[in-house]
Amino acid sequence: MSTADPSRTDFHSYARPDQVRVRHLDLDLEANFSSKTLRGFATLHIKRASKDAPLVLDTRDLNIEKVEVSQNGREWQETEFEVGAADKVLGSPLTIRLTPDAQLVRVHYQTKPEASGLQWLEPEQTAGKKHPFLFTQSEAIHARSWIPLQDSPGIRVTYSARIRTPKELMAVMSAENDVNAVRDGEYAFRMRQQIPPYLIALAIGDLTFKAMSDRTGVWAEPSMLEKAAAEFADTENMMKAAEELYGPYQWDRYDILVLPPSFPFGGMENPRLTFATPTVIAGDKSLVSLIAHELAHSWSGNLVTNATWRDFWLNEGFTVYLERRIQEKVFGKRRADMEEVLEVAELERELKRLPEADQILHIDLKGRDPDDGFTNVPYVKGALFLRHLEQTFGRENFDRFLRGYFSHFQFQSITTGDFVNYLKANLLEKRPELAAKVNVEEWVEKPGLPASAPRPESDAFRQVSALASQWTAGKAALTEFPVKEWSTQEWLHFLSAMPEDLGVSRMKELDKAFGLTKTGNAEIASQWLLMAIRNRYEPAYARLEEFLTTVGRRKFLKPLYEELAKTPEGRKRGLAIYAKARPGYHPIAQVTIDGILKPANETTGVTSR
Ligand code: BES
Ligand code: ZN
Repeated sequence: MSTADPSRTDFHSYARPDQVRVRHLDLDLEANFSSKTLRGFATLHIKRASKDAPLVLDTRDLNIEKVEVSQNGREWQETEFEVGAADKVLGSPLTIRLTPDAQLVRVHYQTKPEASGLQWLEPEQTAGKKHPFLFTQSEAIHARSWIPLQDSPGIRVTYSARIRTPKELMAVMSAENDVNAVRDGEYAFRMRQQIPPYLIALAIGDLTFKAMSDRTGVWAEPSMLEKAAAEFADTENMMKAAEELYGPYQWDRYDILVLPPSFPFGGMENPRLTFATPTVIAGDKSLVSLIAHELAHSWSGNLVTNATWRDFWLNEGFTVYLERRIQEKVFGKRRADMEEVLEVAELERELKRLPEADQILHIDLKGRDPDDGFTNVPYVKGALFLRHLEQTFGRENFDRFLRGYFSHFQFQSITTGDFVNYLKANLLEKRPELAAKVNVEEWVEKPGLPASAPRPESDAFRQVSALASQWTAGKAALTEFPVKEWSTQEWLHFLSAMPEDLGVSRMKELDKAFGLTKTGNAEIASQWLLMAIRNRYEPAYARLEEFLTTVGRRKFLKPLYEELAKTPEGRKRGLAIYAKARPGYHPIAQVTIDGILKPANETTGVTSR
C-alpha cells in the first residue's frame, strides 16, 4: 500500500486505499468443524477516489468462489477478479474489476484448514473435552487468511456479522455480543466504532458468560468460568483507574474471553472482548497485569492505532507504560516496580543478542514478516521512553499530555512521525529547558538504550537478590527464606538471579525445598524448566514434556525449545517432544518452533506447514 507520504506506506498490504477505500464490512459465514473451514461471503462498502481503479484486497490461502458488485445492495452483478501470485509473507492480492458506479463488493469464499489466523481445536484440546473450538488471531497480518479485506492498520472499518455454527456452540466476536443470546447456532454482531482489521476477531465453542460488574464479564468454558471470574475480579477497578488517567472508556463493555491453552499469545486486545490465555489464571491474581495491559490497549492501540507495523511501538510501548500506571493505582507501587524491573532486565538480556537494526523503535520491516518485530524493544524500550518523558516533565504534565494525545488522535491510525510532531508541539516546545534533556531522535531512530534511560528499582527485589547471592555462596539456608510472603514476581526474580550453571545437586535442593517442578504457576514453571534444561535436571523432564504438550503460548515455548536446541541431546529430546506437540500448536507458534528446530527437520520427518 503506497501513499504520498512514504512513512505512511504499509509494506505489508497490497491495498491501494488512495484509490478505493473500504469503510464497512459485512460478514456472513458458516463454521464447519469437520472440514475446518469458514464459508460464506464478505460484503465491502467502498469509497472511491478513482473511477477506473480496481479494488485490491489482501488474501492468504483463501478459495475465492465468485465476486459480485452492486450500486444499491439489491441488484448484484458478477465481476472479474484475479488472485495474484502468493508471497510468503504477504499472501496474494485479490484484484477486483469495478463497474463505474459500484458501491458494494461481495466476495464469496472459503477458508483453508491451514489458515494462519485460525486455530481449529479438537475436543481433547479444550477444558471440557466434549466440543470442538475455533478462535481467530488477526494481528498482525492474519485477518487476510479468513477475510478478504484491505488488511492494513492504516485502514479503519465498522463491521457487522452473521455467524452460523453447530447448534450446541456459542459464537462471540470483538463487537456487540448479546450476553443473553439464545444458543441456537445463529449469531449476529455489530461493531459501530471504526477499527483496524487486525482487531476483527471470532471465537466459537462451549462458551458461557458470567458478569463481574455492570460493564465487565468473563466468557469461558463452563469448568473455567468461576475460576476466571474470581481471578479477574479487579477488572472494573482497572477500568476506573484507566479512565481517571486517560479519559472515558469508549467501547461500552469490556469482557474477557478465556481460551484453551493453545492460544499462542498471553492476551489479545480485541475490542470489547480481550482474548486471554488460561495460563494467567494462577489462582492468586498474581498475573493479572496482563488484563491491565489488554485493557490499556482500549486507549493505546484500539483508539489510537499504529498506521503501519513499523509504528508497532506506538501500540505496545504506550500500552506497557499505561499497564504499569494502572497497576500502580490498583495494586500499588511495590508490585508495579517489581514488574518494571523484571521487564527491563529481560529487555537488557535481549538487547545483547539482537542485531542493531532490530533495536530501533521505528524499525525498518520492509520485506520482513511483521512478527519479526515482536521483541521487547517496542514493548519495554517504548515504555521506558514514555517513563523518561514522565520523569523529565513531571507526572502531572505528562498525564495531561497523554490525555490530550488520546483525544486528539482518537479513532485514527498514526505514524511515529505524527506522534513526534505532536510531542514537540504539545510538550517539548512548551518547556524548552526540560526538552533539552530528551533526545527524541536517539530514542526513536537509534539502537540500544540511551544513557539517560530510566533504571527502575525495586526494594522488594533487593532483599531477594541478597538472599539469592548468600545461598549461592553457601551462606544461607533455604529454610530461612521468607517464601510464604513471596509473590510470583519475587520468585521470578529469585530464579533469574541463579547462575546459569547451577548444577543438578543445587537444583535438587531448590526443588526439595520449594516443589518447583510441581508449581501450577505457568510463569514460574517456564523459568524453572529453562533452568532444568540448562542444568540437565532430569527429575523435571516429564514436567517439561507435559508443559510443552499442553501449553501453546509462544512466549513460553520459544525460550524452552531454543534452550533445548543448544545441545545435540537436547535437540533430540526437543524434536521428540515437538513431534507430539506440534499438531496441537497454533499455526503461528508452529512457524516459530519450526524455525528453531529446522536444521534437523529433514532427517526426522517433521514437516512444516
Ligand atoms: N497485541 C499484543 C499481541 C500481539 C502482538 C499479537 C503482535 C500478534 C502480533 C498483546 O497486547 C500483547 O502484547 N500480549 C502480550 C502480553 C502482554 C502482557 C505483554 C503477550 O501475549 O505476551
Ligand atoms: Zn499489547
